[in-house]
Amino acid sequence: MIKLENVSKKFGTGTFGLSEVSLDVDRGEFVFLVGPTGAGKTTIFRLIIREMLPSQGEVLVNDIDIVKLPKNKLAQLRKKIGVVFQDLKLLFDSTVFENILLPLDVAGIKRTEATARVNEILTQVGLLEHKEKFPLQLSGGELQRVAIARALALAPEIILADEPTGNLDTDTAWEIVKLLEEINKKGTTVIMATHNDEIVKNLGKRVVRIEKGKIVKDEKAKNHQSHENQEKKEEEKKEHEERKEQEEKKE
Ligand SMILES: Nc1ncnc2c1ncn2[C@@H]1O[C@H](COP(=O)(O)OP(=O)(O)O)[C@@H](O)[C@H]1O
Ligand SMILES: [Mg+2]
Repeated sequence: MIKLENVSKKFGTGTFGLSEVSLDVDRGEFVFLVGPTGAGKTTIFRLIIREMLPSQGEVLVNDIDIVKLPKNKLAQLRKKIGVVFQDLKLLFDSTVFENILLPLDVAGIKRTEATARVNEILTQVGLLEHKEKFPLQLSGGELQRVAIARALALAPEIILADEPTGNLDTDTAWEIVKLLEEINKKGTTVIMATHNDEIVKNLGKRVVRIEKGKIVKDEKAKNHQSHENQEKKEEEKKEHEERKEQEEKKE
């Protein structure tokens, strides 16, 4: 679904944001993109939404090389990708409701339909009771939920969340990850960037580690393995029960 092939990004300053990065993300995956500040996480996101172009390599979304995408197809690409920006980019003089309505308005969706959609998303992210509030009246976790809700507005195929737990305490961070996990379970591909190793530990998701613009590790999701483990355990349980039954018969 998303593919980076041998991608490098050299900035005008001479800094390499990325060097020779290859990454392949399948539809429906949940991927943690981890690495220290300055590693290149945001650069990867900006390339995927074509906010900038790579110096080298290909960036494919749904098999389309977006580097070569004509300008008039950009809106179509960006509709497929919901972004939760590191700095949120919320409108502070608009309510929660209006913030989420905006992308639907821009897309030309009728007000009645858009209102229903906003209410639906507000329910999903647990913010319905806050819909008339302004961003400054919300907690860090709630603000993050507004940004996620706005990213969901146009029912994107992909969500890119850039350090959505960066400024949150552990419990709130956990709730945000759980929310993204729920969104993923409904079929949306999710890539979450974070420099917080604690968050990704023990979740069993795929973890792509980037350091100084290079991918240094790509650990596949452990779901498959745990599924096998589960099958093995069930088999063992069955064998144990059968043995018990036979022993009981003997007696
Ligand atoms: N517009 C830019 N101009 C020059 N250097 C940049 C620019 N954007 C990012 N960089 C540099 O590229 C590297 C990767 O940055 P970034 O992708 O923002 O890292 P991360 O999101 O992992 O913290 C850093 O060294 C950063 O300073
Ligand atoms: Mg960043």
